[in-house]
Amino acid sequence: MTIPLWSSVEAYLVERLVPDDPAMFESLAATQAAGMPSISVAPTEGRLLHLLARTCGATRILEIGTLGAYSTIWLARALPRGGEVVTLEISEAYAAVARANLERAGVSDLVDIRVGPAIGMLERLIAERAKAFDFVFIDADKENSLPYFECAIELSRPGALIVVDNVVREGKVADESKQSADILGIRRLLDRLAGEPRVDATVIQTVGSKGHDGMLIARVR
Ligand code: SAH
Ligand code: DHB
Ligand code: MG
Repeated sequence: MTIPLWSSVEAYLVERLVPDDPAMFESLAATQAAGMPSISVAPTEGRLLHLLARTCGATRILEIGTLGAYSTIWLARALPRGGEVVTLEISEAYAAVARANLERAGVSDLVDIRVGPAIGMLERLIAERAKAFDFVFIDADKENSLPYFECAIELSRPGALIVVDNVVREGKVADESKQSADILGIRRLLDRLAGEPRVDATVIQTVGSKGHDGMLIARVR
């Protein structure tokens, strides 16, 4: 099997730009060993989330979709002392793996994992008038991208960043012959953004070990 060009380029970049962090590497190994899917963000993308969170001075971060907490560790490492990541995950089994990975990375006291369907937990955060978040990373079931984004806006302060993973899916998003529930969910979000006055947004297409995809980056006005 030949290695795609973009995977070799990613390896080249990771070697130079992504600091070695054994706990992060081990979190991916433990996630794979638990039989969970290999859909964590790529290291260069984790690094991007980390840099963006630091750039907006985030002290409160919300993540939707934890899996084995690889992206969560990147986000937790961006926090100052006293900061917090609230991360939402539907699977108790995945959350157990995530907790062990966060423990090993030494960030478990910065992270609050909440288990259940994300919509209900987001509605509860809104009802409780939770302190506003500075950074939101949406990376769960793609069908619900629009409701997650709507909740994220409500839960964020002006100037906050909302990042949404997997909005391109090998170009399927722009291919009308593709009509799966996840693609339709992403389109609903992107269509809404055209006339959405509360955020300014763009998408960067990403390519690397996770194939061709994209991340939406939105700033709350
Ligand atoms: N952010 C992680 C990857 C998340 S994969 C990383 O980059 O390391 C998507 C996760 O969303 C999976 O763990 C899946 O169980 C979770 N998920 C799917 N549907 C969900 C829902 N309705 N509510 C909360 N989490 C959900
Ligand atoms: C899938 C989900 C992800 O969050 C991702 O980054 C890649 C793939 C998926 O459900 O297939
Ligand atoms: Mg993803």
